[in-house]
Amino acid sequence: MKAEGKVVVVGAGLMGTGIAHGFAVAGSPVLLVDTNEDQRRKATGQIAKLLDDGVARGKLEAASAASAKARITTAAAIDQQAADAALLVETATEDLAIKHSILRAAAAALPADALLATNTSALSVSEIAAAIDQPSRVIGMHFFNPVPKMKLVEIIKGLETDAESLATAIEWVKRIGKDHIVVNEAPGFTTSRMSALMGNQAMCMLAEGVASAEDIDKAMRLAFNHPMGPLELGDLTGWDTRLRVLQYLHTVLGEAFRPSPLILKMVKAGRHGRKVGRGVYDYDEEGVRIPGSGLKVN
Ligand SMILES: NC(=O)c1ccc[n+]([C@@H]2O[C@H](COP(=O)([O-])OP(=O)(O)OC[C@H]3O[C@@H](n4cnc5c(N)ncnc54)[C@H](O)[C@@H]3O)[C@@H](O)[C@H]2O)c1
Repeated sequence: MKAEGKVVVVGAGLMGTGIAHGFAVAGSPVLLVDTNEDQRRKATGQIAKLLDDGVARGKLEAASAASAKARITTAAAIDQQAADAALLVETATEDLAIKHSILRAAAAALPADALLATNTSALSVSEIAAAIDQPSRVIGMHFFNPVPKMKLVEIIKGLETDAESLATAIEWVKRIGKDHIVVNEAPGFTTSRMSALMGNQAMCMLAEGVASAEDIDKAMRLAFNHPMGPLELGDLTGWDTRLRVLQYLHTVLGEAFRPSPLILKMVKAGRHGRKVGRGVYDYDEEGVRIPGSGLKVN
């Protein structure tokens, strides 16, 4: 296994955009795959903007930004361009059946010694890996949003993940300038388990009328020094993704994780969060929160 060379990123949503940007800046050719053409276009536009912003802030040379842009190609499916890839990062919708189909396609298209990573927020890495004949080369690489800013990658060992895969994943994480922790597989790992619980409780409190959304967020910022409140964080994560994580954790860890009915309503209403311009709060086209806006609960 190599910790250098081409990277295939599958899923060009919130996370895939940041992950593709990170590997391209670190010098890897990136094939960014998404079944949705609009999403592919949006992702390449956002990556270009991230790179241009990096140049404007003096963090990146203009020539480096231009070569990072040139390293990214897109496709609607994992195709022959993946035949010389060293790493695949699956970061599609949080759904086991989708992740299984992507892993099967990856196992068929990538070299036999490529590392296959999943960015699942909570699902079982062992269960995802069971889709293919070589589960030893499947590992969790859990990135955080927004990827360019967040330092940690949680590396999750599935039951069958071997030592070489773990060592290679750690090398890749170092290569993109991030820090890591290694976690033995458990539902929601170390991070999503806590963050999903807190976000869910914040929504229960909002639905009960305990305090306004602004004050619940302010409480966590000022009382506990969190950089953002749990409702702001849910808007950033996406309540559709948050709901899928809670539903899974509810089935495996029990009642504490039962999703707040308010989250179910929000997702049905299309209030998925900042990525669509509306969640607990509303956002303008630049993703900036509109003061006094948002969900009216009572
Ligand atoms: N949002 C977060 O803060 C966050 C943080 C860490 C991990 N994650 C995890 O990362 C993954 C992606 O989350 P996201 O927030 O980027 O979701 P998203 O909804 O923004 O993007 C998911 C993308 O996957 C694409 N997709 C669906 N099926 C596909 C397929 N078969 N092949 C290729 N593309 C496909 C969709 O078109 C969409 O663009 C999920 O597993 C999620 O749990 C999310």
